[in-house]
Amino acid sequence: MKKNLQIAIDGPAGAGKSTIAKAIAKRLGIFYVDTGAMYRAIALKSLRLNIPVDHEEEVGHMVQQTEIELDHSEERRVFCDGQDVTEAIRSPEVSRKVSTIAAYPVVRQRLVQLQRQEAKRGAVIMDGRDIGTFVLPEADLKIFLTASIEERAHRRWRELLKAGKEVPVNEVKQDMEKRDRQDTEREASPLQPAHDALILDTTELTIEEIVDRIIALTDRL
Ligand code: CDP
Ligand code: CDP
Repeated sequence: MKKNLQIAIDGPAGAGKSTIAKAIAKRLGIFYVDTGAMYRAIALKSLRLNIPVDHEEEVGHMVQQTEIELDHSEERRVFCDGQDVTEAIRSPEVSRKVSTIAAYPVVRQRLVQLQRQEAKRGAVIMDGRDIGTFVLPEADLKIFLTASIEERAHRRWRELLKAGKEVPVNEVKQDMEKRDRQDTEREASPLQPAHDALILDTTELTIEEIVDRIIALTDRL
C-alpha cells in the first residue's frame, strides 16, 4: 500500500460515509478524517455564541479564531477550542444549521486548509461532500456513496431512536432533504461526484458488503 494513500468518500447525508470510512480505516490501519465534524463544530460554536448563522461576516470572523482538533484514537473525539464537543455536534439543531455556514467560502477555506494538513500525516480516508472534487483532487480512490432518500432517512431515524430520541421519520426526511438541497445548490464546492469517482448505491447493500467492495478496490493501490 502507498505510504500516502488517499481515499475520498463523498455523498449525501445518511449514505453511510462515516460508518464505511471508519471500518475501512480500521481494516487498512490508516487515518480517518471526518470533515463534516469540523463544519458541525463551527455551527455549534455559532449557536453557543449566539451568532446568527446567516451573519456570514461574523461567522467568518469567528472561524479564523477557532481551533479544531480531531482525535485519531478509536474514540474519535472532536475538540473545538480545547473543549470536547463530540456529542454536542450531532444534535438536530446543529444538523439544521450546519449547511448554512458550510456554504460560506471563508469557512470552507479555513477548514479545507486544516483537512489538507491532516492528509499530510500519512495514509488517509476522508469523508465529506467535496473531498474528491476539491480537498483531495489527486486521491487514489474516490467513492461517491448514495442511497434512496427513504432509506437514508430511515437509517438516521433508527440511529436517533437508538440514542433515545424519538422523532417522526418524516421530520428526519424533510430535514435531510433540505440539507442535501443546500449542499447541492451552493456555489462553493457543491455536493457532486468527482468525474473520476465510482458511484455506489448502497440502498440494498449491508455495511459489510460495501466495506468489502471498497477494500477490494484498494488491493491494486
Ligand atoms: O454525517 P452527515 O451526513 O449527517 O453530515 P456530516 O458529514 O457530518 O456533514 C454535515 C454538513 O457539513 C453537511 O450537510 C454539509 O453542509 C457540511 N459539509 C461540507 O459542506 N463539506 C464537507 N466536506 C463535509 C461536510
Ligand atoms: O456519514 P453518513 O451521514 O453518510 O452516514 P452514516 O452516519 O455512516 O450512516 C447513517 C446510519 O446508517 C448509521 O447508523 C449506519 O450504521 C447506517 N447504515 C446502514 O444501516 N446500512 C448501510 N448500508 C450504511 C449505513
